[in-house]
This record gives sequence, structure tokens and C-alpha cells, in this order.
Amino acid sequence: MNMITKIDELRKWRNAVSGTVGFVPTMGGLHDGHLSLVKASNDTCDNTVVSIYVNPAQFSPNEDLSNYPRDLQTDIEKLDKYSVDALFFPDDRQMYPNGFSTSVSESQLSSKLEGKSRPTHFAGVTTIVSKLFNLVNPTHAFFGKKDAQQLRVIQKMVTDLNFDINIIPYDIVRETNGLAMSSRNKYLSSEERRRAGILNEALTKARELLGQGERSTEKVKRFISDKILSEPLSKIDYVSIADHMTLDEASDLVQSDVLVSVAIFFAKVRLIDNFEFMIRD
Ligand code: PAJ
Repeated sequence: MNMITKIDELRKWRNAVSGTVGFVPTMGGLHDGHLSLVKASNDTCDNTVVSIYVNPAQFSPNEDLSNYPRDLQTDIEKLDKYSVDALFFPDDRQMYPNGFSTSVSESQLSSKLEGKSRPTHFAGVTTIVSKLFNLVNPTHAFFGKKDAQQLRVIQKMVTDLNFDINIIPYDIVRETNGLAMSSRNKYLSSEERRRAGILNEALTKARELLGQGERSTEKVKRFISDKILSEPLSKIDYVSIADHMTLDEASDLVQSDVLVSVAIFFAKVRLIDNFEFMIRD
């Protein structure tokens, strides 16, 4: 694994490789969700690049930038079990030098769902991801469905700005109790993690309701909220059933694909989860 911190070293490495290049951008605190993307890249591409960079631009002032889990040594040990050709872990001065004044923002999807609670978040994501795409110049890039809206915003950016990159979505990896893996789960005690399983339990049951033919968005959303709030550590940020492409809230469930997504505050942590469902009349 080539350990690269400098942009010119990365460009030199990239210019020397041939074949397909798979890219897995991360903020570190690696878990099996991230590693499933690395494995997917290994299985699909001739070369794999992973980046670890905690991007300040995608955190709001009240968020956890300074506490975000950072443990490069442990991350490297985890990556050593895979075939990673280059690990890029730049510092802030590399990515945002003094005087940096450009941003990339997507304006349709980014203001919905997560964007309502985190108005500057996706511009931070699209700016850093386009910088990383320019630096790594991958043929393929791997993103988790855990961050379903992020995935769609990136897909939209790639289309709109003509990046010649295949965006490959990957399934959500979960703990045994169904809690979606997240670097932020480290902020939860083991008891809280166990109890946070309620989030996936609510979504799994909601999927069953839809499967049984329930077509009232209000009923399904209320079911999800009530189930989550039966756990006293939970507070709801939003429960949404939206068109899976436009992310506009669906009022009637008629033949279409929907994204059912939820954000909650659980103990001290904000958790998100989702599933996609195809409504077939
Ligand atoms: P991060 O939260 O570290 O996630 C990196 C990638 O791992 C994202 O594509 C995310 O969707 C995926 N991922 C996280 N948890 C997952 C899980 N449980 N199952 C499957 N995939 C999972 O997302 C970011 O970093 C940043 O916004 C980034 C794209 C790196 C830009 O800074």
C-alpha cells in the first residue's frame, strides 16, 4: 500500500498506473461498511485507491468535527487485509490552502431531507468529492447506500459536470442487531448501541407493511415514528417517504420507487437509515 499525503505524489502514482482504478473516499474510523466498498473495488478494478480525510467543509459549526473518530493506525491495519494500491490521507492545508474560494454545489437534491437539517453539508461533500475525483482520476468510485441522499447528489454531480466515472452503489452493512454501521456509532455505549437497533426494527416493519399493500404514506410514517419513539433515548429529526430520484415527498403511493429514510437523535448521536421500495400496483 502506497501511503500518500501529498497531491503531487498522488498525481505521480496515478500517472504510472494502467487499467481500471477504483476509488473509495472515506473520512476514516473505518468499519465493515467502508471495507465492503474496498472489497467491491478489489473485485471490480485493477487498482484500488482509498482516501481518508475528515472534510471540515461538510460539518456545520454545531457538529462533531473536532471529536470525529480519527485513528489512522487502526485504519491502516484494517486496510492491510485488502489489496489497496494507494492510501491518500492529505491534511487541511493540502485540500484547502489559504485563499481557497471555490465550491461545487448541487441545487435540487441537496436542500431536501438531510439538507434541511444540514444546509451547508452537501456543498461541502460535492466540493471535496470533485477535488478528490480530479486528483485520483478514478474509472470507478464506490459509495454506500447508507448515505442514500449523498449517493444521489454525487450521481447528479457526475452527470451534470460530465465526470467520466462509474458510480457504484453498495448495500448497507449492519451490526447483528440491524443498526447500520457508522463511524459515529463509536459515540454510543454498548447498551445504547443495542437499543439503537429500534431504528432498523422500525424500518424493517415498515417495509413489511408496504409489502402487505399499505399505501398511506402518513400511516407508514406514523408507524415508523411511534416505533422509534417507543425507545425513550430517541428524538425524531425526520421520517420521509420520497420519490427515490427527485427526493420529493410522496403523497400517494402509486407505482414508483420510493426512498424511505429516517434521521433521529439517539442519546448524543444523530443516526440515519433508509431503504428503497418499489411500489407495484
Ligand atoms: P464516510 O462517512 O466515512 O463514508 C464513506 C463511504 O462509506 C460512503 O460512501 C458511505 O456511504 C459508506 N458507508 C458508511 N457506512 C456504511 C455502511 N454501514 N454500509 C455501507 N456503506 C457505508 O461519506 C463520507 O464519508 C463523506 O461524505 C465522503 C464521501 C468521504 C466525502 O467527505
